[in-house]
Amino acid sequence: MSEYQTFEHDVLVIGAGGAGLRAAIEASAAGVSVGLVCKSLLGKAHTVMAEGGMAAAMANVDDRDNWKVHFSDTMRGGQYVNNWRMAELHAKEAPDRVRELEAWGAVFDRTKDGKILQRNFGGHRYPRLAHVGDRTGLELIRTLQDHGIHQGIEVYMEVTVIALLKDGERVVGAFAYEREHGRFRIFKAKAVILATGGIGRAYKITSNSWEGTGDGHSLAYDAGAELIDMEFIQFHPTGMVYPPSVRGILVTEGVRGEGGVLKNSEGTRFMFDDIPDNYKDQTADTPEEGWRYTQGDKNARRPPELLTRDHVARCIRREVKAGRGSPHGGVYLDIAWIKEKLPNAAEHIKKKLPSMYHQFKQLADLDITTTPMEVGPTTHYIMGGIRVDGDTQASTLPGLFAAGECAAGINGANRLGGNSLSDLLVFGKRAGEYAAKFALENNFGTFDNAQIEERARWALEAFDRESGENPFAIQNDLQEMMQDLVGIVRVEEEMQQALEGIKDLRERREKISLTGNIDFNPSWHTALDLHNLLNVSEAITLAAIERKESRGGQFRDDFPSKVAEFGKVNFIIKKGAGGQMEIRSERIPEMPEELKQIIEEMG
Ligand code: FUM
Repeated sequence: MSEYQTFEHDVLVIGAGGAGLRAAIEASAAGVSVGLVCKSLLGKAHTVMAEGGMAAAMANVDDRDNWKVHFSDTMRGGQYVNNWRMAELHAKEAPDRVRELEAWGAVFDRTKDGKILQRNFGGHRYPRLAHVGDRTGLELIRTLQDHGIHQGIEVYMEVTVIALLKDGERVVGAFAYEREHGRFRIFKAKAVILATGGIGRAYKITSNSWEGTGDGHSLAYDAGAELIDMEFIQFHPTGMVYPPSVRGILVTEGVRGEGGVLKNSEGTRFMFDDIPDNYKDQTADTPEEGWRYTQGDKNARRPPELLTRDHVARCIRREVKAGRGSPHGGVYLDIAWIKEKLPNAAEHIKKKLPSMYHQFKQLADLDITTTPMEVGPTTHYIMGGIRVDGDTQASTLPGLFAAGECAAGINGANRLGGNSLSDLLVFGKRAGEYAAKFALENNFGTFDNAQIEERARWALEAFDRESGENPFAIQNDLQEMMQDLVGIVRVEEEMQQALEGIKDLRERREKISLTGNIDFNPSWHTALDLHNLLNVSEAITLAAIERKESRGGQFRDDFPSKVAEFGKVNFIIKKGAGGQMEIRSERIPEMPEELKQIIEEMG
């Protein structure tokens, strides 16, 4: 063990996106020593891809908004399989977390009377997204980084964790390697927080950058923690589709929030055909007026493009399949049309959506102030993840906490846009607070050398093979398979095929051969990431097979409706005694009467 450099912290945070940074700040404020490990450079996180804003019922734009409406929108968006306690805490605490961020230096867009400006987003009844143009996630990360840097947090950049260390059932640290020179590192900790983000790289088309390989999900699973509701994947309706090199890059929902409309190749605003009856405003204006569905509130008309993401993504897929798509397999997203309503539309678009303007100008040579964009669904987010306690973010293993995208519960079957940024602030803070408390109440545990030596051997064995598979080819095959067989629309037969495919890919992974050495070696890094991608892919597929219904991010062509019984359960995944993945369903705890009443009142 002594041959590997060892670091000690009361609390170790793995992942430095919004949740990790917020957790580190909170733990540090509690007076414990904090180490923050990130796979990439500090500040480069998928958080920045939540561009359009953070949802918080501050009622700055519409004073009818309050935590109860936000809670009820979140539960409805999640189709009622959410962890209701998390949805409640999130709705209650999000406004304070946004104001705190402002106090720490975040510069938000403003209303005319100087309040934080809030915009419309899918599934939110009132304008609720506090935003900074279309760079909200970036501003959030910048602010947390600036604030955190003064807290004495020790940051380890370009370090990838490959195992959690255990003392019996308790998690007491992590084993990692630094990417530049490949050297192993041991981190001892009294409490560990996973905040590693998502799994998008399990799919071919994704808004996630290379880091999104489900590391936290997989580390927790390997250590014996439970995962929950892994079947629920969010396919964001609007990613770039052209040119091919940029396929999947996010086109913020903020474009639709600012009035962007979706059209097919026949020029039809096809989303008008798809407003569920209970959302329709029977006193509707003409479609061209644009504000036609109401979420049950006549005074809050919304364009149908702002129905929930799962719904919009499926409608886009249907248009493309029916031959009404754009030349490169998407549909059209048009914000330029607002020039009919607004004299200085081009300036307005550049001001409200500066990143989108530059993104399309630079990557696609297209001016969004004059020309519609081509867009299509992109794998954006996983609602499922590490099972945590709603109040403390403690996982099912002592000493292990999780927050942000890799933790699950708040979003149920489908996340509303903008809820992720407020989620990671609310639950990042809670994870930091309770991990620090745990650290103050416990000593460092102990672990044996064998855990480390076994993992080091596992990590390096592919260098000893004379010949074998290329990790990039396996990763590519996995991504294609998940995209085709466990994507937006699923059927049993294809998913069974995917399970078999994952088994084959696991065998192929065992035969990877690596050349070169451990100095920055992308093939090696990919081979290690593949283990995580295979774990999460299997978990997603297993859970998607078990949930024989359609709900939120899970759409089954062979079971296209919701089934009441499935609305009462979550699916839990855990490693079995023989190392195999096991799944079981568990009843969702009964919601307290006062929360039920809120949902009823909100219609
Ligand atoms: O479209 C977006 O700006 C993404 C926001 C989110 O995922 O919360």
